[in-house]
Amino acid sequence: MITFKKTKDLQDYLDQCRQKNDGIGFVPTMGALHDGHLSLVKTSLNENKVSVCSIFVNPAQFNDPTDFEKYPSTITDDIIKLETTGCDILFLPAVEEVYPDSFKLKKEYDLGYLDTILEGEFRPGHFQGVCMAVEKLLMIVEPDKLYLGQKDYQQCMIITKLIQLMGLDEKVAVRICPILREKDGLAMSSRNMRLSKEQRAKATGLYETLIDLKQNICNGSLRDLKKEATDRLQKKGFKTDYVEIANAKTLKPINEWDARTNILGLVAAYIDEVRLIDNMMLN
Ligand code: PAJ
Repeated sequence: MITFKKTKDLQDYLDQCRQKNDGIGFVPTMGALHDGHLSLVKTSLNENKVSVCSIFVNPAQFNDPTDFEKYPSTITDDIIKLETTGCDILFLPAVEEVYPDSFKLKKEYDLGYLDTILEGEFRPGHFQGVCMAVEKLLMIVEPDKLYLGQKDYQQCMIITKLIQLMGLDEKVAVRICPILREKDGLAMSSRNMRLSKEQRAKATGLYETLIDLKQNICNGSLRDLKKEATDRLQKKGFKTDYVEIANAKTLKPINEWDARTNILGLVAAYIDEVRLIDNMMLN
């Protein structure tokens, strides 16, 4: 694996790959890598001649300064994991490399209602910050295929929208990869590293909530189902931002279900100060 810290060096190298017609797959991450991230890298390796993984803890997307300060960093381990997986290129830029001026938002991305619901509602500015970093990274890497995880379902929709806004929808294919889970169902996440043993044991509550929704879903009103799920999480000691059932295509919340529309359960909740999210197709 070759590691590049400078944009120019990476671009020069990728230009040579493009001259040889080598397809480029790209997996953007914020590091603290786990098997979920690596599954994206593996998919990219299977589908492209050259796979680039970036590790960049993007300061612009943290609406909570403590979350940014406490975001896990395990760079030595990350490099070993990427090497072992067979990743071709690691892009490891410093903040100034991605944001030469500053990371203060200079323009507003027109993300429509997607920026105002669920994660957009509870993490104001978060998706604008995600778009800032991903836009820069896409301009640097210019991939043919971009690999994203369904774990961040709304982010997948936001980045797909960003690619349209950038006029790249014909050039960059978005590949959405399934959620990797621990044995007990907990969705893998870099933030899981912040959980104590007791908190970790509790964390499966999110997965259990989604399974519960899936088992009890029936047509008609979904309000009671959502309320009961929220109450149960609260009783288990979570501070819940939302338990939502949404149209899987548009992500618009659904309160009355016709049993035909594809629906997705989404949950976001805190265990003490650690915020976790998860989602699952319900039908
Ligand atoms: P990060 O949280 O590091 O995630 C990087 C990618 O890995 C995302 O596409 C995410 O959905 C995927 N991922 C995370 N957990 C996963 C799991 N359990 N199974 C499968 N895929 C998983 O998402 C970000 O970074 C950032 O917002 C980023 C897109 C890099 C922009 O800064």
